[in-house]
Amino acid sequence: MSRPGQIRFLSRAAPLYDPVVRLLGFQRLWRTMAEHAGAGPEERCLDVCTGTGGVALAVAGGGAPVVGIDVAAGMLREAERKARASEFAAKVRLVRMDARQLAFRDASFPLVTCTMALHEMAEDERSSVLAEVRRVASARVLFADYRVPSSPGRGLLFRALHAFEYLESDDFASYTAREMGERLEAAEFRVETHFDAGAYRIWPCRVAT
Ligand SMILES: C[S@@+](CC[C@H](N)C(=O)[O-])C[C@H]1O[C@@H](n2cnc3c(N)ncnc32)[C@H](O)[C@@H]1O
Repeated sequence: MSRPGQIRFLSRAAPLYDPVVRLLGFQRLWRTMAEHAGAGPEERCLDVCTGTGGVALAVAGGGAPVVGIDVAAGMLREAERKARASEFAAKVRLVRMDARQLAFRDASFPLVTCTMALHEMAEDERSSVLAEVRRVASARVLFADYRVPSSPGRGLLFRALHAFEYLESDDFASYTAREMGERLEAAEFRVETHFDAGAYRIWPCRVAT
């Protein structure tokens, strides 16, 4: 599927997104991201590629003001619906925006999060998004995405389990071709460590401003 086709599909299927990703363990991942973000009550957070706002709402639940951005209008509508139904609606602002061109000043967010979005991007889109996240972040950034095993045996199992992702898009193969920590270091993030949350991996990073 082409990239614009993928975004249109996500936008149309947005009402089904949460029920599906719940089965894949995303809710636990969103909570873990917010716990590790540990945002202070006034620490401004940007959630890039927020989708239906899972991480944005979990971080806002801790009291931090959060801006969530996404290109897919349908996903943002779901995020808005969820925000309105929550107690933290006033803490969350949702904006339709392309992460390749973030309309924010340099170093304007002490905390940036980006969850389960980089794997589906083409290499040039991923590089642009990483550069923009790097530009607008002033201190901490948390990425979460698929944990790709390095051993050949587990790699085979991973390919079998994620056959759908491979079939759906050529870009998934480009994500798995390079280790994420290495990719982040190349984009000038200082990767502090990584840890696993189910099938996913979280990379907490720092940026030097
Ligand atoms: C798999 S979803 C993940 C959503 C959410 N972060 C989560 O954890 O559930 C990927 C999201 O990235 C968004 N996205 C992809 N490319 C984007 C771009 N260039 N700018 C902004 N959003 C983008 C898609 O619209 C989609 O909502």
